[in-house]
Amino acid sequence: MHEALTIFHILFLFLNFSSVFLSSYARGGLHQSNHSGYVDNNYGGSIRRLYAEKNFLVSEEEHFQKLEKLAQGYMSNSDLEKAIKAFNGRCSNISRIYSIGESVLGVPLWVMEISDRPGEKEAEPAFKFIGNVHGDEPLGRELLLLLANWICDNYMKDQLATLIVDNIHLHILPSMNPDGYSLRKRGNANNIDLNRDFPDQFFPMNDDLDSRQPETKAIMNWLEEIHFTASASLHGGALVANYPWDGTEDRKKNYYACPDDETFRFLASVYSKSHHNMSLSKEFPKGITNGAFWYPIYGGMQDWNYIHHGCFELTLEISDNKWPHASELPTLWEYNKMSMLNLVASLVKTGIHGRIVSSDRGRPLPATITIRGINYTIPASKPFADYHRLLAPREKYEVIATMPGYRSKSACIVLGEAAMTIDFVLDPETTHPGSQLIVDSDCYFENKTSLKVLELLPRAHLELSIVLILILIFLCFLMNRKVISNSLYQRQSIGPKRPAVI
Ligand SMILES: *[C@@H]1O[C@H](CO)[C@@H](O)[C@H](O)[C@H]1NC(C)=O
Ligand SMILES: *[C@@H]1O[C@H](CO)[C@@H](O)[C@H](O)[C@H]1NC(C)=O
Ligand SMILES: *[C@@H]1O[C@H](CO)[C@@H](O)[C@H](O)[C@H]1NC(C)=O
Ligand SMILES: *[C@@H]1O[C@H](CO)[C@@H](O)[C@H](O)[C@H]1NC(C)=O
Ligand SMILES: *[C@@H]1O[C@H](CO)[C@@H](O)[C@H](O)[C@H]1NC(C)=O
Ligand SMILES: [Zn+2]
Repeated sequence: MHEALTIFHILFLFLNFSSVFLSSYARGGLHQSNHSGYVDNNYGGSIRRLYAEKNFLVSEEEHFQKLEKLAQGYMSNSDLEKAIKAFNGRCSNISRIYSIGESVLGVPLWVMEISDRPGEKEAEPAFKFIGNVHGDEPLGRELLLLLANWICDNYMKDQLATLIVDNIHLHILPSMNPDGYSLRKRGNANNIDLNRDFPDQFFPMNDDLDSRQPETKAIMNWLEEIHFTASASLHGGALVANYPWDGTEDRKKNYYACPDDETFRFLASVYSKSHHNMSLSKEFPKGITNGAFWYPIYGGMQDWNYIHHGCFELTLEISDNKWPHASELPTLWEYNKMSMLNLVASLVKTGIHGRIVSSDRGRPLPATITIRGINYTIPASKPFADYHRLLAPREKYEVIATMPGYRSKSACIVLGEAAMTIDFVLDPETTHPGSQLIVDSDCYFENKTSLKVLELLPRAHLELSIVLILILIFLCFLMNRKVISNSLYQRQSIGPKRPAVI
């Protein structure tokens, strides 16, 4: 009996896969990277905000002297390494450290992973923070160490810290450009702006693997290994949360929306709203900006993350002053602390999450999730088939799960501020080969915090659905009703277009 098996598999699913989601729950303006010359001096005009204005009035030598002095209150590269190791020593049961490669001058690119099961694969989303992309923007590397230590000290004490450790894998790379930092300049040791060194969607630049910088390669390899749901890189020189696209096809300065514009505006606002005063910006409404609307850049890391790895990356400009005096660090940490925590926590506190399994054997399916009207797909993870789809709250979404060899299913939902769980149980394609998207969108919208899509029957299969329902009702009489009503009926709501029998 196929149906009976299905019921057992569904029960199995509930017992094993109960959701972890609590239902209460500078960039810089060159169009090309200039592989020769002192890059910092090539900026002008459109990127006025990236440099404290007075820096233009001093000579390169004076500027360097000034940074040397400021750097005295900051961690050197070896101090940073010690701090990372000390953090890991103090917090060994919820962290691990690893290096993703080395800079041009051989400095390891250390990452701290924070999780209740660091280094293990779990059905949880991952977030990454990257600091110090530009060598002369060192605020991020300091704040990221403070963040890691704060989470360590407040795990099991603070709700947000505990939520993050228990439900997310947080990876922190405090310095992507340690050489630029020690040389007190924007680019790396080869004078390359690392935020212009990634492959670009519009122009064939940086496509030559051999000329790519080791720091860039390290990031690119890292994303081959770990799937990040979202991330942020920290910059200085302005106060704004910047989101894709960073470039435009015609190189003009225009608002250039990516498919997830609404999602990104929501995500950027999570940061700006929680910040001391980012959202009060006069220059940037609500403290957020589309990158290309501000000024287009090419070869940036942010767009590459979204295009090639399903990772929603923001570029956060967290201080007008690129290199604030060290005495300001505690204040700047206070200004950014809630923003950083809330941005990471938004991975489980908002959006749509769930698992996709087959109805025949309850196997996890590495299916893809699409949202009708948004030209973008999110893959479910390989081992657990969990997916994490960030989305802005909205009245109506149609969420579609697709897997070759299985019938696609969709769920129509109302998404509020809180996260929603939608698990999909897909049926193998038997009669019609190939997978088809459901074409009609006669959605019945449900406002629930959790949903399991068992069946989605197109109108043509109405008779079949009635037969199926009758069989299910019959089975219910045969089985212990208590078990079923407790573990199956009460905890799920049935997907759209299904008569309200189950
Ligand atoms: C690149 O830098 C060199 C040396 O500073 C300069 O002569 C050249 O004009 C720059 N090229 C571009 C495209 O900015
Ligand atoms: C980590 O250690 C602390 C203190 O011993 C303990 O309370 C906590 O449960 C541990 N956490 C994990 C995830 O093992
Ligand atoms: C935010 O606060 C800082 C420190 O008080 C101040 O220097 C800055 O001008 C403020 N920015 C905005 C946009 O209000
Ligand atoms: C969807 O995006 C892809 C690139 O990811 C593009 O090639 C395609 O033309 C887009 N489709 C539509 C309908 O916009
Ligand atoms: C969804 O339902 C909750 C209460 O169950 C309500 O507070 C919320 O406003 C509803 N959202 C929409 C968009 O209808
Ligand atoms: Zn920057």
